Amino acid sequence: SDCLNVNLRGHLTIGGCDTLELAEQFGTPLYVMDEATITQNCRKYVESIGTYYNSRGRVYYASKAFCCKEICRIMENAGMGLDVVSGGELYTAMSVGFPADRICFHGNNKTPGEINYALDCGVGRFVVDNLTELALLNTLALARNKKPSVLFRIKPGIDAHTHNFIRTGQIDSKFGLALETGEAEEAVRQAVALPGVSLTGMHCHIGSQIFDIAPFELAAEVMVNFMADMRDRHGADLTELNLGGGFGIQYVPGQNPVPYDRYMQAVSETVKKTCEARDMETPFIMLEPGRSIVASAGITLYTVGAVKDIPGVRTYVSVDGGMGDNPRYALYQAEYAAVVAGKAAEKPTETVTIAGKCCESGDLIQEHTAIQPVQAGDILAVFATGAYNYSMASNYNRIPRPATVMIRDRQPRVIIRRESFEDLVRNDV
Ligand code: LLP
Repeated sequence: SDCLNVNLRGHLTIGGCDTLELAEQFGTPLYVMDEATITQNCRKYVESIGTYYNSRGRVYYASKAFCCKEICRIMENAGMGLDVVSGGELYTAMSVGFPADRICFHGNNKTPGEINYALDCGVGRFVVDNLTELALLNTLALARNKKPSVLFRIKPGIDAHTHNFIRTGQIDSKFGLALETGEAEEAVRQAVALPGVSLTGMHCHIGSQIFDIAPFELAAEVMVNFMADMRDRHGADLTELNLGGGFGIQYVPGQNPVPYDRYMQAVSETVKKTCEARDMETPFIMLEPGRSIVASAGITLYTVGAVKDIPGVRTYVSVDGGMGDNPRYALYQAEYAAVVAGKAAEKPTETVTIAGKCCESGDLIQEHTAIQPVQAGDILAVFATGAYNYSMASNYNRIPRPATVMIRDRQPRVIIRRESFEDLVRNDV
């Protein structure tokens, strides 16, 4: 990532700050994020909506990737919308005055409490996942004299060749309404007759960490055709198409994500071509990138403790964090690259397994990874931890969650304080 560099002392820097100094000043484990990288990523998406859709669209940051007050403020200033999937994410956004009309509310099992809260906030779009939710939203909206705008989450039936756990576009998924079975059409038939909702468009999200353009193009084509079918068969006036997120990023060298621009161009061409063929106006386009906005903007700094060499087997390098702050290797065997922050100019000569401090054998950050010679007391930096790390962090073993520091103009500031032991027992009775 552009925000990373090596200074004259051979130390890794992020946003112009020496990572050893950051570790010293704020302690470890520490999440560090570069604000300019985040805002540049936002700008790329917003600009491509301008270029390829004549600015008739909006980019919603998928806040599940990393959600806190400050990121909501940053997104507001960047002109982004926000995708939230829970009352908690919505509350975080509202607590900093994020404009509710720019919020898209997702989730496959929104509770009545969450729906009422979102209605009271005046959330701009509800992405309705299923028929139960449609009926519930209609009832709750009528009781409040509201008529929220609704998109349907559709399973376009596309296998995006990503990790099984994060593949969400195919028919065997808890998310969305199926096309093949007629479920999606039945939802449209019902919705156009419901007085408490206004069906304005369709949504799909075909998976995450996707490197190909083809599944996105195919999804766009399927969705536009479905929208045209629903116009023809049910008179549905559908003017919005949300194509979800899922754009891949580089975690380790050798991975080659498609540049946004090529993706945007290809998909916009598919959308326009299909619309033309169906005599339909190009819908208002919504995108929901999460990972590709924040992942590469973040690193995690750890302090190395025990180094255990098991001759002929492997070397475990244990750090002061682990699956509590980054569960992605344990969950998905996700790839990560790491560096000894004080030796960032040196070539990696060792192969080690980076382990956490949790009481669990699977608590690993990466196995058999190349790194510089490392010893107790060294600061270790793990790259591309800006997405789905803090947001998926836990207090397993009652380990407090790390602080998050955001850097702007070479100035680090704490945006999430380190948890204390008191925080851990706060709700204990
Ligand atoms: N929109 C919807 C409806 C989604 O379900 C997701 C991600 C996104 C947008 C954002 O996708 P992104 O651009 O970040 O790929 N915890 C997993 C990722 C789960 C993604 C779930 N949905 C991980 O750590 O890889």
